[in-house]
Amino acid sequence: MKLVTCGLPYANGKLHIGHLRTYIPADVYVRYLKMIGEKVVFICGSDCHGTPIVVNAEKEGLKPKEFIEKYHEHFQKVFSALDVKFDYFGKTTDIEHHERTKEFVRKLAENGYIYKKEIELAYCEKCDRFLPDRYVEGICPYCKTPARGDECDQGCGRHLEPGEILEPKCKICGNKAVFRKQTHYFFKLTAFDEFLKEYLSKLSGTENALNYAREWIGNLKDWCITRNLEWGVRFPLDDSLVLYVWVDAPIGYISFTEKATKDWKDIWLEGKGEIVHFIGLDIAYHHCIFWPAMLKGAGYSLPSAIVASGMVKIEGKTFSKSRGYVVWVEDEYLKAGFNPDYLRYYIVNYTSHDKDLNFSWDVFRDKVNNEVIATLGNFLFRILSFAWKNFGKVQIEVDQEILNQIKATKEKIVNAIKKWEFKIASDALMELASFGNVYFQNSKAWELLKSDKMKAMKAVANCLQIAKALMILSYPVMPRSMERVAYALGLKLESCSLEDALKVDKELEVRKPELPFKKIEEEDIEPLKKTLFERFSEKSELEVTIEDFKRLDLRIGKVLCAERVPKSKKLLKLIVDLGNEKRQIVAGIAENYSPEELIGKFVVVLANLKPAKLMGVESKGMILAVDVDGKAILLTVDKEVKPGEKIK
Ligand code: 2FM
Ligand code: ZN
Repeated sequence: MKLVTCGLPYANGKLHIGHLRTYIPADVYVRYLKMIGEKVVFICGSDCHGTPIVVNAEKEGLKPKEFIEKYHEHFQKVFSALDVKFDYFGKTTDIEHHERTKEFVRKLAENGYIYKKEIELAYCEKCDRFLPDRYVEGICPYCKTPARGDECDQGCGRHLEPGEILEPKCKICGNKAVFRKQTHYFFKLTAFDEFLKEYLSKLSGTENALNYAREWIGNLKDWCITRNLEWGVRFPLDDSLVLYVWVDAPIGYISFTEKATKDWKDIWLEGKGEIVHFIGLDIAYHHCIFWPAMLKGAGYSLPSAIVASGMVKIEGKTFSKSRGYVVWVEDEYLKAGFNPDYLRYYIVNYTSHDKDLNFSWDVFRDKVNNEVIATLGNFLFRILSFAWKNFGKVQIEVDQEILNQIKATKEKIVNAIKKWEFKIASDALMELASFGNVYFQNSKAWELLKSDKMKAMKAVANCLQIAKALMILSYPVMPRSMERVAYALGLKLESCSLEDALKVDKELEVRKPELPFKKIEEEDIEPLKKTLFERFSEKSELEVTIEDFKRLDLRIGKVLCAERVPKSKKLLKLIVDLGNEKRQIVAGIAENYSPEELIGKFVVVLANLKPAKLMGVESKGMILAVDVDGKAILLTVDKEVKPGEKIK
C-alpha cells in the first residue's frame, strides 16, 4: 500500500496558486496510481497550531479555534472545487491527533532523545511575556537579514532556534526585547547524523529536495521542541508548555492515516507500505532531516520519497503575499468561472515539477487556447461530432498501428508519473491528440462518406479509439472535462483503469457532444490582470528599499524670505537657506501660515525634486508638510541644526 501526503496548509489564510503547485500534481499522481491498480491512501489536513495563527486570530478578534475553523472549511471547499480529492482531510486540533502526538513524543523521551536545558529566550518586559517564534522579529545570525522568530524568511531560509535571533523586538508592541532564562526541552537531532547520511543516500524523490538536505549533514543542531504558549499540543512531560508546531504537524500524517484506513499500522509501524510526501521546496529541511530523525527516534516507518515542487512566480516575480505577487484561487480564479481543469493542466504542464513555475494570465490563456482547446479539445469535439452526426452507432475495429500508438503513450505516461515527471506525462497527452488530429485529417472521412461508407466508419472507429484513450489517459489531469467526453462516448470513467485505453469495445454509441472547453478571451483575463497589476503597484508604493529612500535628497532648510505669490490664495514664495546655496521654493501653505511667521523657521526640503513652475513662478524643491483637513502643517526639527544638514 502507498501513502501519499501533501504538506499541511496552515489554517491561517486562503489558498493561492503557490499552494496548488503541490496539491494538484499530488492529486494527479494519486489518480494515475489508482488507475494502474495500486492501493493508495491520499491524505492531508489543516495545520492549526503555531504562533502565526494565534497572532492573526487575535488581530481578527477571534479565538484560535474559530479562526482555524474558517480556513479549514475554505480548504475543503476549494479543494473540492478543483477536484483535489483527498481520502481524508483532517485537522491537527482533533483529539486523536493530540493523543497520537503525545504518544509519539513519549516514545522519543523513553528512547532517550529528549533532554532539558536552561536557555536564554527573548522576553518583552512591556508585554511581560516570553516571545516564542512569530512574536519576535530581529536579525538572522547567519546571513544578517531581517528575520522572524523561527525562520529566516527573507534571507538564507534557515530554521532559527529560540534565542538565536539577534536584536530581538516584540512583534506585538514593537519594544526591544531582553533575554531571560527558562528551561526548555530539546530533541537530540545531532544523534541522527550518521543515520541521516545513510538514509538520505537511499531516499528517493526529486533532486532539489535531496541535494538541499544532503548539504546539512554534519551541520545539525538539536531542536528546542517546546514553547511558552497556550495554543498547541501539550508537552507530555511538562503540562505548562506546548510542543513546537513543527513537531505536531508532521505527526498529522500519521494521525490522519489512522482516520483514513484501518491498515494504518502496516504503513506507519510495520514498514509494509511506501510513504510519499509531496511538499514545497521551502520545507525540505523539515521533511528530509527533522521528520525522518523523529520517526526513527520514536520507532515509526520512514518516508520512501520526498517530492518537492519548485517555487512559484507570479507574472515573472517571486511569489510574495505581502508584495501582492499572488493569485487567490477562490476569489480570483474560481470566481472568474474558469474550468478547474485549465489550472490543473497549467500547473502540471508548465515545467518540470521541481523547477520554478511562472503563473501569468497571458500564458494561461495561450496554453489553454492553443493546447487544451486547439489540440485536445479540437480533436475530441471534431471526431465526436462527426461520429454522432453521421453514424450514431459505430462498429469498432481498430488498426494495430493505432493501438501501438496508444500503448506507447500509456507507457510513456506511466514511466513519467513514477518519476514525478508530470510535464512529460501531460505532453504525451497532447502528442496523442495531435496524432489523432493528423490521422482524422488524412483519412478524409467526410469524403469517404459519399464513396465508401464502410471505410469511413473504419476511420471513425480508429479515431473513436483514440478519443477513448485520451479520455482515460487525461482523466487524472482533467477529470471534470473527461467526464463530459465519457458521456458523449456512452462510457463510464469511474473504476476505469489505464489499461482500458487499449480495450476495444464492439460498438460505441455516440451522443451529442457538449465539451466544456470554452476558449479564453482577452476580456476574460483582463480584469484579473488589472487586479494583479493594481495590487503590485499599490504594494510597491508601500514598500521601498533603502536604496529607493537614499535617492531622495532630504535636507533641513532655514526660511530666509517669504512672500505671497500674486493672485494665489494658497502659494507662498520662499527663499530657503540650504547651507551652501539659497533656493527659491513655492509652497502651498499660505492658508495656514503668514509670510512673517515663517522667517527663521527650520523646514524639511526635498532638494532633488525636478524643478517646476507654479503660477508662473519657478520652484526648485518641495517643503514637507502634513495635510490636516486641507491645511498644511510644516515638518520641522526639534533641536537647532545647521541649514543644509542631510536627513538620513
Ligand atoms: O509550511 C507549512 O505551510 C506547514 N504548515 C507545513 C506543514 S507540513 C507537515 F509537516 F505537516
Ligand atoms: Zn539567514
